[in-house]
Amino acid sequence: MLAPGVTGAKNARVFAEYQPHRPTPAAPVEVEVREARASDLAAIERVEDAADRAACPDGVRTAIADPRRLVVVAEVAGTVVGWAKTHHFDLPDGEAPAGHYLAGVTVDPRARRRGVGHALTGARIGWVAGRAARVHYLVNARNTVSLALHERWGFREIARGPTFHQVPFVGGLGLVLAADLAQRADRRGSSGSGRQSELPS
Ligand SMILES: CC(C)(COP(=O)(O)OP(=O)(O)OC[C@H]1O[C@@H](n2cnc3c(N)ncnc32)[C@H](O)[C@@H]1OP(=O)(O)O)[C@@H](O)C(=O)NCCC(=O)NCCS
Repeated sequence: MLAPGVTGAKNARVFAEYQPHRPTPAAPVEVEVREARASDLAAIERVEDAADRAACPDGVRTAIADPRRLVVVAEVAGTVVGWAKTHHFDLPDGEAPAGHYLAGVTVDPRARRRGVGHALTGARIGWVAGRAARVHYLVNARNTVSLALHERWGFREIARGPTFHQVPFVGGLGLVLAADLAQRADRRGSSGSGRQSELPS
């Protein structure tokens, strides 16, 4: 049983292949990140399908309606190519603290390595920074691409185990990471990629 609104990975193929350098010099794209609406559910589902991940429309709908959570989509030339959400846990679970968590980001494989994941992550971190001094995230220990994506915000590992907040991990090992948002304020210059529309702060 997963925590409400938290989706599990369909299988291990959902992780992108780790490539230390961009495979080909890609043309820069203009990315617009905005809050998701219920009318984005079909586009979000398309992104999940393209990435071979399990879509959970009811969970996303619940997250969109929850004022303690943020769901964002990224558009390139008016098309949704990625989305992401946060989750708020009211109680700690062992070593995993209560608080705001980055709770999943997916970019359509055809739009990857153009800064879309970075823009979606920067937008959510900016939103959490208006509400809390720390942000957390849960990640499968094997998802080296996700770890690389989040590295520049100063996330540090605070726990590892088979499950946290009822989230299981493919392969059996997950990490809890945390970043201090007060420290991150100096790094704001590196948090944006492309254009980001106004999000509530
Ligand atoms: C993780 C994911 C969202 C990244 O999206 P993206 O739009 O390709 O990421 P960006 O182009 O913004 O990359 C930002 C940085 O992340 C790191 N990164 C992204 N993809 C990478 C890859 N395949 N290999 C190594 N590092 C990578 C790099 O540091 C990159 O900066 P650089 O391109 O200047 O080197 C995307 O690969 C994805 O949807 N993966 C499947 C779902 C998933 O694992 N989500 C995370 C769950 S916590």
